[in-house]
Amino acid sequence: MTEPAAPLRLTDYREPAYRRLPSPVRDFVEGGAGDERALDADRRAFARVTLRPRVLVDVSAPATATELLGAPLATPVGVAPTAYHRLLHPDGELATARGAGRAGALYVVSLFASRTLEEIAAAATGPRWLQLYWLRRRDVLAGLVDRAADAGYRALVLTVDAPHLGRRHRDARNGFAVPPDVRAVNLDPALMAAAHRPAPGRSALAAHTAEAVDPAVTWPDLAWLRARSPLPLVLKGVLTAEDARLAVRHGADAIVVSNHGGRQLDRAPAGLDVLPEVVDAVAGACPVLFDGGVRSGTDAYAALALGARAVLLGRPVLWGLAADGADGVAGVLDLATAELAHTMALTGRPALTALDRTAVSFTPAP
Ligand code: FNR
Repeated sequence: MTEPAAPLRLTDYREPAYRRLPSPVRDFVEGGAGDERALDADRRAFARVTLRPRVLVDVSAPATATELLGAPLATPVGVAPTAYHRLLHPDGELATARGAGRAGALYVVSLFASRTLEEIAAAATGPRWLQLYWLRRRDVLAGLVDRAADAGYRALVLTVDAPHLGRRHRDARNGFAVPPDVRAVNLDPALMAAAHRPAPGRSALAAHTAEAVDPAVTWPDLAWLRARSPLPLVLKGVLTAEDARLAVRHGADAIVVSNHGGRQLDRAPAGLDVLPEVVDAVAGACPVLFDGGVRSGTDAYAALALGARAVLLGRPVLWGLAADGADGVAGVLDLATAELAHTMALTGRPALTALDRTAVSFTPAP
């Protein structure tokens, strides 16, 4: 029997992953909102990037190590928060944590993790942040924030682009509900019941979000969260200069430029298209991270050149997880980092600090 070929590209993890998964889970992972225009836009934006290589530079040792909110990282490529990893692998987030740790990468754990924050912390060897949605139940939010600090999470990532869940037609058509054996174990089962209730023609996750997430939250509410926790506060899902300036004014310690992988607002811009405007608006006041459509280390390079301090991977990490557990997660992150280092070498920019807008040719979509 011949061995399967080793993955050479992040997308090589996709097919082995989906061979192992039921099709509604595949749709849940791959899908976007509405007509999936924002999902497509993420990929199309990267297709418009060309690189501007410089030559006769010493590129014998391209260095990807960096630092983020005080934590050293071997790579600026990290793990975006994604829900319910036990849908993809029996070890769930424990495998993700082990893989990220092995790659020296940041892991942003989802509020809807299917392992406890404490178990994940015990499996992790690298820095991790906790992602939150603003729950109607502030007492529950407060409890999570305390647990995160106690378990050594180094930042809170408040996702601000999902006051309502995006209209994800694939999930609605599939009547998608989270299977009963996969649970968001960090939250009270009563709070999660709607996510497990299948109904034809609708997404249980949309119903659950409507029940659990507070859509009335506004900028002044952030003060409560900041006062409640000593951890730095990161806002994920900012797509305009106006909101970037508000984020800075309201004390955000970092921003993630993201259209939620095209899963929230259809016709949202690609994150890459608005990254330069957000970076300009922030004007160095805090680090800007990026996610959405990154499918190679060269894509990561482009986002870093346009001003991101780090780049997060959503679906590719899930492909790695489903295909090969912790090894697959580490494989995806290591491959992206190796491609990034290679691109840095071939463009004559051997340090991340040498990556600036002169490294790419890119015109944001109007
Ligand atoms: C997500 N994303 C997400 N974001 C978040 O803040 N909390 C969450 O629980 C989830 N869950 C989730 C599940 C799945 C299956 C996917 C694909 C995505 C969005 C995620 O953090 C990130 O913004 C995008 O996935 C980035 O785009 P790519 O890399 O998937 O193209």
